[in-house]
Amino acid sequence: MKVLIVGGGGREHAIAACMKKSRRVEELYCVPGNGGIAQLAQCDPSIGAMDFDKIVAYAREKAVDLVFVAPDDPLAGGLVDVLKEAGFRVFGPDRRAAVLEGSKSFSKDLMKKYHIPTAAYEVFDDPEKALAYLETAKFPIVLKADGLALGKGVLICPSLEEARAGVKEIMQEKRFGSAGSVLVVEEYLTGREVSVLAFVDGRTVKTMTSAQDHKRARDNDEGLNTGGMGCFSPSPFYTPEVDEFCRKAIYQPTVDAMAAEGRKFQGVIFFGLMLTEDGPKVLEYNARFGDPETQVVLCRMENDIMDVLDACIDGTLDQVELKFEDNAAVCVVLASQGYPEAYEKGFEIRGLENFEAKEGYYCFHAGSRIREDGRMVTNGGRVLGVTAKGATLQEARTRAYEAAQWVSFDNKYMRHDIGRAIDEA
Ligand code: AMP
Ligand code: GLY
Repeated sequence: MKVLIVGGGGREHAIAACMKKSRRVEELYCVPGNGGIAQLAQCDPSIGAMDFDKIVAYAREKAVDLVFVAPDDPLAGGLVDVLKEAGFRVFGPDRRAAVLEGSKSFSKDLMKKYHIPTAAYEVFDDPEKALAYLETAKFPIVLKADGLALGKGVLICPSLEEARAGVKEIMQEKRFGSAGSVLVVEEYLTGREVSVLAFVDGRTVKTMTSAQDHKRARDNDEGLNTGGMGCFSPSPFYTPEVDEFCRKAIYQPTVDAMAAEGRKFQGVIFFGLMLTEDGPKVLEYNARFGDPETQVVLCRMENDIMDVLDACIDGTLDQVELKFEDNAAVCVVLASQGYPEAYEKGFEIRGLENFEAKEGYYCFHAGSRIREDGRMVTNGGRVLGVTAKGATLQEARTRAYEAAQWVSFDNKYMRHDIGRAIDEA
């Protein structure tokens, strides 16, 4: 098979690495790709994930057999529909199904209608009404821009004053653009967060191993929210009892609800869960693989990924048994100093050869590119996702932090406490 991946981050590198292992994949392509992906796949950095016409033309030129759409924006924008209309076989939800992530008010209303456990909430399209509601609300409270906002459209407000400022920021100053025209105001939940990714064929849902990411920029969960500074899998807090509850109350009901709404979901659903004292609740849905969750999950999957993708597309997932290695993985993100705000790019990355032929160690590229002189240089806020497997989470963590020292670039920074929560389990 010839396969085209749309996207260009650490998640896509991990997907490409997994596909590269498949006996069935002959040629791999990726747009825009990045410096690391370019070592596994033919990339075209001039084609962005939102350049739908160019992607269709590229897929035609390369005569690909399957297109895998990984990021949220093209999914919400309907790239899957466009590619299907052009006659391609595609993995990923269509526009009507991707709204599960693309609109938080849609997903909240869906959960309410189908009795799927989630935080209590209200939806507003008028800032005055939102402000009036806040006057009598309980704090802390959570404000969420309705639409996609690079994972940054959520504000946790400890007091009325901060919530008022938040409404202004999201709805009036439009900090997240049109994503903030509608606002979800949500009850603040406490507990352990867990991410569960699942393959879905429209009817059947099969979960992968659990994971947990670290969104804040600095140690001890301080600093700004980021796209993710690290991740570990499995989560020791995701017990068989929690799993059983979620299967019955969350996973299957979500897939059934989407089908009942005429929005059959085929692809990956990422269930962002909070394990509260009153049981697991859904914090958010994503209509795709997570980043950096994918980096610690797919490297532990034993199935040939192409078989699983085919089953999702063909509606035969009930016949697939997903198998994961009985071990653990930890991913430590190496970022550029200043991320998630201003940072410099273009620094040479040294030491990548240390990962060659090292079983159980991976260096997934999130923001890199190959410079004209052939050197690999930094090209983003998050640069690399250094990942290691181990028999236990502790061993995986020790190895990931060792491997994080194998590479260097100017302004490199990382968190030092990825997976520390493991010690409390
Ligand atoms: P989301 O993009 O919806 O996952 O939100 C980003 C992060 O905000 C989550 O990973 C949580 O850490 C936090 N968060 C979202 N909703 C809530 C909530 N209702 N209560 C507490 N924290 C939340
Ligand atoms: N790691 C969270 C996400 O992919 O949205």
